[in-house]
Amino acid sequence: MTTHDGPTRYGFLDCNSPIAPWRFDRQVRECAAARPQTIVDIGCGWGELLQRVAAQVPGAKAYGIDSDLELLERGRAGAVEKGVGDRVEFVEYRGESWTEPADLVICIGAAHVFGTWAEALAALYPLVKPGGRLLFGDGVWAVEPTEADLARMWPGTTRGDWPLLPDLVDDAVAAGFRPLRVEAVEQHEWDDFESAFLADKEVWLLANPDHPEAAAVRAGADEHRGWWLRGHRGVLGFAYVTLGRPVA
Ligand SMILES: C[S@@+](CC[C@H](N)C(=O)[O-])C[C@H]1O[C@@H](n2cnc3c(N)ncnc32)[C@H](O)[C@@H]1O
Repeated sequence: MTTHDGPTRYGFLDCNSPIAPWRFDRQVRECAAARPQTIVDIGCGWGELLQRVAAQVPGAKAYGIDSDLELLERGRAGAVEKGVGDRVEFVEYRGESWTEPADLVICIGAAHVFGTWAEALAALYPLVKPGGRLLFGDGVWAVEPTEADLARMWPGTTRGDWPLLPDLVDDAVAAGFRPLRVEAVEQHEWDDFESAFLADKEVWLLANPDHPEAAAVRAGADEHRGWWLRGHRGVLGFAYVTLGRPVA
């Protein structure tokens, strides 16, 4: 997990969003249960969920869309490992420009490619075939943030960056969807995610304390930990909503 050149990237994460293994397994099961024959994941990263759903649905054709070549490469290797390399295609593309509808659309942690969450939901609706589903995941306020809360988070964070959960679901309904499952993660899922996110740097720093890059890596890790433990912890949540598009 460490090299002398620099920290690994997402080396301690199974997927790039906060989620407990049991919840992830349930998402795979529920997505697969609808037997989608076409699946697209917008902003897929390395598409762990996409790979696992495709592996559960014989014959399904899946596309993972992302702009990061390194992550797409990890996705391709994972799909081959799971025996679905011929059915899961990782495509370097702008997610907001994808136009091919699918039975199952996944968009987790990538709403920002469309603008706001409401703009994302509206843009994703026509990508879901009538009778199909959207699994959407993104940040939501766990509590109404105060000005002091906002000031402790990432620079430039505003109240308008994320919705409260009920408002997110209202926006999904306004876009034409019906909600099939609405859930928000527990704090320990965020803590596990942030710990694993920082582990690349922390493990590398322990092995390379005097490396010429160590001071910069340490400063980056310390800053990120501050945004988490003194910033968004307990204030920012993360929601997953499974949405259905009515049949035509
Ligand atoms: C928070 S990550 C989520 C990854 C993945 N959905 C997951 O849950 O593991 C957001 C992803 O969006 C991708 N991304 C950012 N802008 C994009 C764009 N315009 N088009 C496609 N992907 C984009 C990033 O490269 C990154 O992999």
